[in-house]
Amino acid sequence: MKKDLLIAGWCILLSTWGATGQVTLQHLLTENLVNPLGINVAAPRFSWQLTAAQRNVQQAAWEIKLTAGKTAVWNSGKVNSAQSVQVPYAGNPLQPATKYSWQVRVWDTAGKVTPWSAPATFQTALSSPADWKAQWIIPGFTEESDRPAVLYRKTFTLPKKIRTATAYITAHGLYEAQINGQRVGDAYLTPGWTSYNKRLQYQVYDVTSLLVTGANAMGVTVGNGWYRGYLAWGGNKNSYGSDAGLLVQIAITFTDGSTQNLITDGTWKSSTGPIRYDEIYHGETVDTRAEKSGWTNAGFNDTDWSQTQTSDFSKDVLVTTYNEPVKKHETFKPIKVLTTPNGKTVLDFGQNLVGWVMVKAKGNSGDSIVIKHAEVLDKYGNFYTENLRVAKATATYILDGKEERTLEPHFSWFGFRYIQVEGYPGEINPDNFTAVALYSDMQPTGTFTCSQPLLNQLQHNIQWGQRGNFLDVPTDCPQRDERLGWTGDAQAFSRTASFNFGVNNFFAKWLHDVTADQRADGAVPHVIPNVLGPNSSASTGWADVCTIAPWNMYLAYGDKRILEEQYSSMKAWVGYMQAQSKNDLWQTGFHFGDWLFYRPFDDNDGKAAVTDKYLIAQCFYAHSTQLLINAAKQLGKTEDVTTYGELLQKVKAAFVNEYLTPNGRLVSPTQTAYVLALQFDMLPEALRAQAAARLVQNIKDYRNHLTTGFLGTPYLCHVLSRFGYTDMAYTLLLQETYPSWLYPVKMGATTIWERWDGQKPDSTFQTPGMNSFNHYAYGAIGDWMYRVIAGLDTYEDGPGYKHIKIQPHPGGGLTNAAATLQTYYGTVSSGWSTNGNELTVDVEVPANTTAAIYLPASPESTITESGIALSAQKDLQVATSDDQYVMVKAGSGKYHFVISGAH
Ligand code: BGC
Repeated sequence: MKKDLLIAGWCILLSTWGATGQVTLQHLLTENLVNPLGINVAAPRFSWQLTAAQRNVQQAAWEIKLTAGKTAVWNSGKVNSAQSVQVPYAGNPLQPATKYSWQVRVWDTAGKVTPWSAPATFQTALSSPADWKAQWIIPGFTEESDRPAVLYRKTFTLPKKIRTATAYITAHGLYEAQINGQRVGDAYLTPGWTSYNKRLQYQVYDVTSLLVTGANAMGVTVGNGWYRGYLAWGGNKNSYGSDAGLLVQIAITFTDGSTQNLITDGTWKSSTGPIRYDEIYHGETVDTRAEKSGWTNAGFNDTDWSQTQTSDFSKDVLVTTYNEPVKKHETFKPIKVLTTPNGKTVLDFGQNLVGWVMVKAKGNSGDSIVIKHAEVLDKYGNFYTENLRVAKATATYILDGKEERTLEPHFSWFGFRYIQVEGYPGEINPDNFTAVALYSDMQPTGTFTCSQPLLNQLQHNIQWGQRGNFLDVPTDCPQRDERLGWTGDAQAFSRTASFNFGVNNFFAKWLHDVTADQRADGAVPHVIPNVLGPNSSASTGWADVCTIAPWNMYLAYGDKRILEEQYSSMKAWVGYMQAQSKNDLWQTGFHFGDWLFYRPFDDNDGKAAVTDKYLIAQCFYAHSTQLLINAAKQLGKTEDVTTYGELLQKVKAAFVNEYLTPNGRLVSPTQTAYVLALQFDMLPEALRAQAAARLVQNIKDYRNHLTTGFLGTPYLCHVLSRFGYTDMAYTLLLQETYPSWLYPVKMGATTIWERWDGQKPDSTFQTPGMNSFNHYAYGAIGDWMYRVIAGLDTYEDGPGYKHIKIQPHPGGGLTNAAATLQTYYGTVSSGWSTNGNELTVDVEVPANTTAAIYLPASPESTITESGIALSAQKDLQVATSDDQYVMVKAGSGKYHFVISGAH
């Protein structure tokens, strides 16, 4: 009813606006990617952006035409619809391994049609295991115990002129491929990490330009990686198998239309080369003396290489890659070369990052350069690696005495700001060391800036925490012997992540592994991919990633398919909690609880900030049930809406009965308890305001500090704002002594720390067993900075910023703040700035979206937009006002508001 009214309101508004001028179409995406290869969905979804100089541009209809070469495959005809994001293909079934091209044109609400867009392309993947002619191969020699990386090679002849060639490659381990001496693609750490025994990704490459008519060679190096390297703890390795397998298929089409396949089979050769050791945690040893010069070229003599063996490893588990691969990104030069008090040579790159250092060196044969990695220096200024636990995080390069060269690892990476260099031949020249950040190639989408430099540094740290830990899977940390897809951390950070970078496909891919590794009884493992065994499952706030992350992706990207694909997983998890409960109360099982909450006065008078774990469990039980209901509504599953609606009432009633006194005190009187109870609407309406007041009192009792851990922290400031305490939220955010977000910033952090007090003011460290300096979880405050400080948000009834909510919250002594977000529709931005009692608000609303803009003003304030009194501004409609905000409805365009006498 409410939604209908809203839509009707918009229609009236939009029909009064007439768009004139030229609309153009750009940023065409297929399955959210630019011209992707390897699409394996029956109905790929198409998105495009409308751009126009004028305001209030709305799409009224669209038309798509799709071709394969010169053959017309689908013409949608004119479809009356405003949808411009994730429009599904609706033609005849697409053929596998085929390149398609599409164009779109649209009509605006004034009936004006755009020219056809420039074409976008996509190529479909192999469609079934039978499409794989290639055989899995493994080395034909017995491997040494250290398992040097395996080299595979094959020489082959292509008799004719080549028109196109597509390579499909995957491995058991990590691979890097070359054809005729040139690297295939620019992705690293391929095939990425999935639950390999259920889903193994292959990558698709256009290799047309690498091949020649005549003799060719392909060489592929396979390292240990997640598949068979050390992973988790206790010397655990071979998580998925013990053989370094390779599977390659190259489909070549000649200009005369004939085809040929190059496939892995028993005719390939195998050997080892310069990579003598490679382990994710421990590092890599490259002995350049063992290099096989020219081994990926046709002329190379491989007579002393071993044959390969074929293997019947499954091809049923093969899936195409849906997310953006890991690539090299920013580079850093040392900002300082230090000699530490204990005499070590240390280079400081000025940024805690994840990747490796490229080292230029020339020396004698046998010279060995050893590079160790650390995030921090200790209080004396010495290189500190204790917090890496058993991870050796060491790159070793042994020189061959020949020309100068640049060395880097291939199958190991490090979380570091500092390196310690030993054995470097000659003087250390900082120019010879370049740190490069590697992470999933997600598009940067969000910016947040404000007048407070410490907050800007916090935003920087949050974004670098994301870069470092979005390396194909969302990890807890990137440096110690862990680096696992911890579900609790991922759910806490998922909404913030969706502001900073485009993570739609990143999460869609990882959520498939959540489903793959979810137990039959619905329990979701602590880490995904699950390498800890089936019993490490079902912790509250961790397992709930299966409801929280899909819902957050739906909100951020309007991606309904994520809800469709994850729905049964969501339902199974709620079912698990239901089965564990007695009288609707869930009080069984192991839970991490409010992990790493701050324990200020541990044994002082109940003020230890310990939140009952089952109280937390009941809150997340309700939350997951609510999100399941939300998803059911979107998917039209009305029966489930009713069934789970009833369950939700019972879960909340059981909570009230067990954990709330009649006067409204929670049995755990902690910040996290009040935050979760309020955020998830666990309390009767009448008792909410007093609960919020208790929360504020609790914060004051801790001298305006937070005490929350992984589960309470993401919602803390949101709850304060919702109940009218934005001032207190600002106080917490701007607090500079620990526990707080800015304390690490004051201590020089360049990423988010695992613990509030990872390094104490006297520079001593927290316990080394759990002290990462790059853990994104507490970076979840970023969501509040975007959505509340800058006020940039989406409505649930128009997710993915189709229907935008702009509501700035000036405060905290800031004089300005601004956020921008690249959405599928285009740029959304919201910025404000104060000057005396004048407030300016600048907003950008992309074409084909609408916005409700809440201007901080009282009815008495004077408001202008682009110099015109608001009441006279025909482009906007004043909808509501109270003593806090005047709300205007806007279509697309850039708006400049000046509010005099704001507050
Ligand atoms: C990880 C976390 C994770 C936790 C589970 C730690 O070792 O680093 O971030 O969520 O275990 O409590």
